[in-house]
Amino acid sequence: MSHDERTFVMVKPDGVQRGLIGDIVSRFEDRGLKLVGAKFMQIDEELAHEHYGEHEGKPFFEGLVEFITSGPVFAMVWEGADATRQVRKMMGETDPADSAPGTIRGDFGLDLGHNVIHGSDHEDEGANEREIALFFDDEELVDWDLDAADWVYEDE
Ligand code: RTP
Ligand code: MG
Repeated sequence: MSHDERTFVMVKPDGVQRGLIGDIVSRFEDRGLKLVGAKFMQIDEELAHEHYGEHEGKPFFEGLVEFITSGPVFAMVWEGADATRQVRKMMGETDPADSAPGTIRGDFGLDLGHNVIHGSDHEDEGANEREIALFFDDEELVDWDLDAADWVYEDE
């Protein structure tokens, strides 16, 4: 399996306000994933509508846009084997109340609307690449060798 799949991940405004950026970054570092981009930023209405376009028209959409634009977020791109699916597994279920302890939402959240983190949906083909392109320019992504990858993977 290739080790260079990239996925888009974001600490949401509640996670930022609660001081969870460091904890969340640590979990992906500890797992052996490689950080290739990161940006502390404020999402505007237009970007929020594009990012969550699939939910437009649903009853929770306006509240979702209001929440995601309510304060800064920490946007990241992580790279590794099966990165999109593995990150989603580490996040837990959409509702923190249904998320297993040990997952990010299961450890840090209690409320569906404030679920701390976003990760590209691995069941939505190409969502990772689309979201990376929406949030990052090519030159903001860094190509580098993670030395520890020799130990994370049997065949590097
Ligand atoms: P996300 O996109 O934020 O990573 O979350 P997700 O894939 O796990 O869930 P998704 O279905 O994409 O929903 C996006 C966000 O909308 C809120 N939501 N509310 N009230 C509701 O029924 C409802 N359903 C979803 C959640 O905050 C979810 O993260
Ligand atoms: Mg989603």
